[in-house]
Amino acid sequence: MCGIVAYIGDQEAYPILIKGLKRLEYRGYDSAGVALMDNGELQLYKCKGRVADLEAHINGADVRGTIGIGHTRWATHGEPNDVNAHPQSSGSGDLVMIHNGIIENYATLKEELINRGHTFVSDTDTEVLIQLIEDIRQHEEVDLFEAVRIALNEVVGAYAIVILSRKDPDIMIGAKKSSPLTIGVGNNNEYFMASDATPIIEYTKNVVYLEDGEIAMVDRTAGLMIRNIENQEKTPYIQELEMQLENLEKGGYEHFMLKEIFEQPRSILDCMRGRLSVEKGKVVLGGIKDYEQKMVNAKRIIIVACGTSWHAGLVGEYLFEDLARIPVEVEYASEFRYRNPIIDEDDIVLAISQSGETADTLAAIELAKSKGATIIGICNVVGSTIARTTHAGSYTHAGPEIGVASTKAFTAQVTVLALMAMAIGKRKGTIPESAFHLLLTELTSIPDKVESVLKRDAQIKYIADIYKDAPNALYLGRGYSFPVALEGALKLKEISYIHAEGYPAAEMKHGPIALIDEEMPVFVIATKGPSYEKVVSNIQEVKARKGKIIAVVTEGDIVVKDIADHVIEIPDTDDKLMPLLSVIPFQLISYHIAVMLKRNVDQPRNLAKSVTVE
Ligand code: AGP
Repeated sequence: MCGIVAYIGDQEAYPILIKGLKRLEYRGYDSAGVALMDNGELQLYKCKGRVADLEAHINGADVRGTIGIGHTRWATHGEPNDVNAHPQSSGSGDLVMIHNGIIENYATLKEELINRGHTFVSDTDTEVLIQLIEDIRQHEEVDLFEAVRIALNEVVGAYAIVILSRKDPDIMIGAKKSSPLTIGVGNNNEYFMASDATPIIEYTKNVVYLEDGEIAMVDRTAGLMIRNIENQEKTPYIQELEMQLENLEKGGYEHFMLKEIFEQPRSILDCMRGRLSVEKGKVVLGGIKDYEQKMVNAKRIIIVACGTSWHAGLVGEYLFEDLARIPVEVEYASEFRYRNPIIDEDDIVLAISQSGETADTLAAIELAKSKGATIIGICNVVGSTIARTTHAGSYTHAGPEIGVASTKAFTAQVTVLALMAMAIGKRKGTIPESAFHLLLTELTSIPDKVESVLKRDAQIKYIADIYKDAPNALYLGRGYSFPVALEGALKLKEISYIHAEGYPAAEMKHGPIALIDEEMPVFVIATKGPSYEKVVSNIQEVKARKGKIIAVVTEGDIVVKDIADHVIEIPDTDDKLMPLLSVIPFQLISYHIAVMLKRNVDQPRNLAKSVTVE
């Protein structure tokens, strides 16, 4: 979490930093700050609140400088207030630093520094690190780069940092371990550093992704130099960004979330593009080609992910078991990494992550890797840490997802999982040719069917208005629809702050049924499929207790229409692909309820888009 951005070049840094921080605000929005240097003088502005609050705070001040750093915070150490906001300064005020990550041994380091006479003003771990760097520079009489290098060797934890120094006004130093740091290489010795490429794309498409344990120094005249913390020089590897600037704008929608929901026909298509051919009866995922045989031979697949990506993983479990007959376990990455799991070199670990930066997923990957497993990634952000850490993988190609609530990433993840399971099943011979062909054809019809679900938006908004004041909600589904029930509940709670639970429909009678009364909205996926009749019975059970039923049904359904309070009709499709359609009404319901309750839809409280701390 936390977004960091930095600039050094010929332009005024402030507008670049503010624009960059607005793009990075999805990473945290508890407080914000900037530091700029002009003629060897450091100007520091920071405050609690969002980037807009920072702008208001700065309003009217003469902010100047062609070198500067900016930060938007998701608090870890210390409550969100002005003092704990970044940039943090060293004791003398000579150094300023922005930081994304956690310095785990900060307490020990702080104690040592206090014993050496340093005093602290904030509660942050970041202040400890910048004071440590200053302490080393003063006592060991080394230059700034060396002081940073020595300090980072003492640090345990995760960091992406950028530092400015009053004594070195033409130098900017950045470093990374576990948290991301991208360096933009512009024209005429102009450089950017940021948590992701979104603040950079407008100025240059050339980027260097800093690796763990690397320190980058930009000197106005000498340019970019990279060394690792063992002090070995590294050659910067410049890559070209694929990102498009227009994808980072709202494009006429009121919120990014709504834009991203409505983008799904295209994002699913983009995800399939060039990967399947109905005529040739083929699915080709170039990124995993060399590992397909290994997947075919796998005794087991372990899926690791968090949040919405974990829900997509559950759909993946059903798909791989159905189509490729490979046993699958779906693990919360945060649990997997701490429970001494049994893994060996015959295991395939599938890591799913929109951002490609989630700390728990990354740690789960490292653990599985150390035990010899083959790691396949399914990521959205190209060049992200997870994408680079895995042995192979397939991008979801959904385009940048800015809204904190994940929507188009989920449908793209499910699409990739379907393609993967089909490719492996076909190679393994576990899907009959005719079934493969039918499913492939059906998959190509999904974007149009999503489009037709989106046309129900007005009706979904009407339903949202009826239930917006409910304090609780229950989501039920069976089989492939169970993960969608979990996802529907997650969407509602994270952006509307209404308590919601997702359950396998049949589990309701083992406890949650006690919650049902005339106040309780129960959202049910009751589309045609193997468990349709069973779900109809579950609906009857809810109605018998006066619960309110909002059912997502297949077009033309008359049975549920008779029992439910509301039905949302969606096109028919293969049960295995139904999550791609049935999740859409739930995304829209949550969106409309959140807007009606005046919540901050794109940046819900306490959350951040990339969870880069464990
Ligand atoms: C989804 O709406 C959430 N904001 C969250 O659960 C998210 O899916 C989770 O943090 C995982 O993120 P990732 O896909 O970037 O790894």
